[in-house]
Amino acid sequence: MLSTLIYRSRLRGDIDDVGLAAILARAQQRNAELQVSGILLYDGSQFLQVLEGPLESVQALFNIIGKDPRHDFVVEMMRDYAPKRHFETVGMTFFDLRRVRAHTVLKSVIKSSVVPFNLAREERVYKFIRSFLRRPAQPHISQQFQPDAWRVTHSQARIPCKVPSMVRDDCQFALQPIVEPLTGKIKAFEALIRTPDGGSPAAWFASVSTDELYEVDIHSKEKAFALAKEVNIGSHMISVNLLPGSLVQVPNAVEILLAQIKRQGLVPQQVIVEVTESEVISSFDEFEHVIRQLRAAGINLAIDDFGAGFAGLSLLTRFQPGRIKIDRSIVTDIHLYGPKQAIVHGIVRCCSELEITVVAEGVEKVEEWCWLEAAGIKYFQGYLFAKPVLNDTPTVSWPVAD
Ligand SMILES: Cc1cc2nc3c(=O)[nH]c(=O)nc-3n(C[C@H](O)[C@H](O)[C@H](O)COP(=O)(O)O)c2cc1C
Repeated sequence: MLSTLIYRSRLRGDIDDVGLAAILARAQQRNAELQVSGILLYDGSQFLQVLEGPLESVQALFNIIGKDPRHDFVVEMMRDYAPKRHFETVGMTFFDLRRVRAHTVLKSVIKSSVVPFNLAREERVYKFIRSFLRRPAQPHISQQFQPDAWRVTHSQARIPCKVPSMVRDDCQFALQPIVEPLTGKIKAFEALIRTPDGGSPAAWFASVSTDELYEVDIHSKEKAFALAKEVNIGSHMISVNLLPGSLVQVPNAVEILLAQIKRQGLVPQQVIVEVTESEVISSFDEFEHVIRQLRAAGINLAIDDFGAGFAGLSLLTRFQPGRIKIDRSIVTDIHLYGPKQAIVHGIVRCCSELEITVVAEGVEKVEEWCWLEAAGIKYFQGYLFAKPVLNDTPTVSWPVAD
């Protein structure tokens, strides 16, 4: 199968004409052997390369190129399949943009395309090349993205737990902080449900019969609020997960929550109810009036797993929660994938206009945090900072600049 791969990267150190010629000579030779063709653009600091050829050859070549120490921040932008090559010649056509005008490059790209002129312009390959040629001279995100400049250290400071290791009968909760790394502040704790022996939320849900699911879901939250009180969360916020069905189907669900919050000495404004994107969109009409009730009661709302379902940003045309949590599937290895980066840029821009707080969840690597921070996200949750701890607050690891 004929495949196309586009990546972007940044020159590391200096390279002169001789160095560039060496890369190209090797590329011409190996690409011919592998039947890979393409185009390499270089503007003095960044590369954009299109590789096309048999799927396995393109992948094997990209694995080699990705490890080349002469460049870094290698970000995959596109993988696609095509009936024919965009660039007929086998080898690598090189354009040094310091010497060739953008217009000339585009003309040459269109000319080499086997697709008719007006359709060639519709090809994503062409669009990637065009936006690389025309991008504004503002500093690229890679100039702020400096993961090597940070290391993550453990801090001993933690909120003391008054009653360590409470034993729960039917369910218990683990607490995981949502942090603002650059100020070293904990913004909230998420209470994650566990079985009596510490099992996962899925195991807990599996132990509950379908008839009582929603009732049990709502009533379990009192234990989360009780834990928040016992570990002395003070004025921090506490986030709990609820099935939208529990809010819609259980009569007086919002009053039940309000009574639990009051009994445990908390105030509604410090409580965040998290519901997942896919659950909200599947029962949106019923859910809409519960949202109003929740907000009218002062309880905050967050959309969990944002970007994982099919609704995405279009959900925000129907209602705007105070917070969204970007799904871990987008966060994982964000520093390596252009499509994920484009989605996060879109989310950040949109949420900033709508004044919605964005949290990235499932952050495990310094590179992920660093990229997301450079993209404008301030709040994070994930193993990089703290793992959830049963019936207690964990210690937090904070990034410090080297
Ligand atoms: C921006 C850039 C683009 C490159 N493109 C190609 C390429 O298209 N084909 C290729 O064989 N090597 C390419 N290289 C070089 C490879 O990364 C690698 O250094 C080379 O293939 C190793 O050759 P060797 O097997 O002789 O060690 C590129 C390097 C850079 C920095």
